Amino acid sequence: MSNDETTNIDDLLLENRKFPPPPDFQERSLVAGTQLYDEAARDDEGFWARQASELLHWDTDWTTICEWDLPYAKWFVGGRLNVAYNCLDRHVEDGRGDKVAIHWEGEPGDTRTITYGDLLVEVKKFANVLKSLGVQTGDRVNIYLPMVPEAAVAMLACARIGAAHSVVFGGFSSQALADRINDAEAKVLITADGGYRRGEVFPLKGAADEALANTPSIEHVVVVKRGGNDVEMKVGRDHWYHDLMADVSDDCPAEPMDSEQLLFLLYTSGTTGKPKGIMHTTGGYLTHVAYTHKYVFDLHPDTDVYWCTADVGWITGHSYIVYGPMANGATQVMYEGVPNFPGNDRFWSIVEKYKVTIFYTAPTAIRTFMKWGIEEPAKHDLSSLRLLGSVGEPINPEAWMWYRDNIGAGTCPVVDTWWQTETGGIMISPLPGATTLKPGSATFALPGVSAEVVDDGGQRIDHGGGYLTLTRPWPGMLRGIWGDGERYRETYWSRFSDRYFAGDGAKLDADGYLWLLGRVDDVMNVSGHRISTTEVESALVSHPSVAEAAVVGANDPTTGQAIIAYVTLRGGSQVDEGDLRNHVAKEIGAIAKPKTIYFTPDLPKTRSGKIMRRLLRDVAEGRNLGDTTTLADASVVDELQRRAADSPSED
Ligand code: WTA
Repeated sequence: MSNDETTNIDDLLLENRKFPPPPDFQERSLVAGTQLYDEAARDDEGFWARQASELLHWDTDWTTICEWDLPYAKWFVGGRLNVAYNCLDRHVEDGRGDKVAIHWEGEPGDTRTITYGDLLVEVKKFANVLKSLGVQTGDRVNIYLPMVPEAAVAMLACARIGAAHSVVFGGFSSQALADRINDAEAKVLITADGGYRRGEVFPLKGAADEALANTPSIEHVVVVKRGGNDVEMKVGRDHWYHDLMADVSDDCPAEPMDSEQLLFLLYTSGTTGKPKGIMHTTGGYLTHVAYTHKYVFDLHPDTDVYWCTADVGWITGHSYIVYGPMANGATQVMYEGVPNFPGNDRFWSIVEKYKVTIFYTAPTAIRTFMKWGIEEPAKHDLSSLRLLGSVGEPINPEAWMWYRDNIGAGTCPVVDTWWQTETGGIMISPLPGATTLKPGSATFALPGVSAEVVDDGGQRIDHGGGYLTLTRPWPGMLRGIWGDGERYRETYWSRFSDRYFAGDGAKLDADGYLWLLGRVDDVMNVSGHRISTTEVESALVSHPSVAEAAVVGANDPTTGQAIIAYVTLRGGSQVDEGDLRNHVAKEIGAIAKPKTIYFTPDLPKTRSGKIMRRLLRDVAEGRNLGDTTTLADASVVDELQRRAADSPSED
């Protein structure tokens, strides 16, 4: 519990539980020792080059592994390859055409089984469709689809012909779609009539039409039929996917692309400012996602059934549904809908049905499962699972334990994977056969990745809290912000010289384990102590009655900021506010005791499930709320405001 002046964020939470890899897991794991770490430490570029040549097919070898001119990197310079060829053709050529690529399950319960052979034919045909609509190498194509296999088909078809895709999450509004289309100047939009969500069809084409009223660059719109809802089709502009696919050739050779060809743009909203079009390219990105998907998930492609619950509209869906798993020839589950339709056990029924072995989800989902109670997973046989993963936010140690105990039978390793849209792939994570886990810690930078924690002045620290930075270029790193080089340098490379600053706080414990502390914008300052919201939230979640907690610092005349907590209880639980405050004091110290705790059935979250502390800060300080359009469910905030007005401060 120090407030050492050289560290910048206090280190409060002490977590001592340790879980070495289970011997039977370790025995058949791809990596059980330190060999990859040792190899990468000797020569990181050489290490990445070995991954690139072992994991991918190159039509032309590169001449230079990495050209680094801060902040711009090029990887595998001069090399040529085709991403779709790597994700599809070569598996089929190797005799694995009948292997299932996607077990797709629609929310209403309809299913499709798609082999690598099927997917290849579909992608070749759709690539020809795109060409027939005038799409050429270097063009941008927007994709606005529900979680249907056609989303993967569309992405891979773009990759096949060297057009960059820009996927916009299907839950985003027409305005968000229009902004992104216009920024990218996309030529074609691929959308659907509608998709299923919580038992109903949500009309996607209607939202697309609103956007299309203000997107002059779009020449053609392709509409996948999924919802069966009525749509308007504008003659000459709008075409049904199934009509275009009906009589198009499936002969479409995969042309080798330059390693630095733009593969996609993906816009990150952030909490302020105009969305940034994060740029990812071909050879380095595919190397990074294939490598991390293989080793972090200990993938055995012949026996594993992998399921990542993200939406393809997020980077997790790009890297760990489409590109990583398919480059590795994995068999995976893809699910269209919400986790609570028709019941709160839908995910577990899917795990049981497809005998999922590797399951990758987000802390927000895990905490929701905690809220729903252990009886939901208990209804199903989850014994096929052998590895669990987490991504998107810091995972509280108690949520980690709950996940391992109740989903992973108390034996599955849990890999907490830290990364960002900007990093392209996983950067900090255990290797499950090699790393002794600590609940709530992402453990160590992966082999090939160099992460350091620094203090305010940019000096590296070996112990305690500070800022997470990356010190070496990596193959999957963003190549810039579309159309805004200055903003790229300013956002990521200006805070600390020669370092990429991710915007996250982190601490190193006495064993050198990394602990993510949340966005530094969320750090609180209480009586001169810089306290991470994550640590107080984790202390709250370690109380047996608490499922989820969000903590913010609100202006306070005596302490600078005071800690305000919003807490969601586990199903059927009750707890006294005073007890909970004392629990935090006991776990991490009196300084971190919340001044006020509000109980709430839900927390405001972004559409990708991250808690929006900025809004809670506004609520706590009685401010008018700014932009709430990025919220998944705006009614949650209204309710919190009402409660704040009813009961000012209870202290
Ligand atoms: C947060 C998602 C702690 C972090 C892949 C990061 C995490 C932001 C973790 C990127 C984790 C992601 N532990 N925090 N395991 N994973 N984050 O771009 O704040 O949607 O900067 O990419 O999520 O979010 P993005």
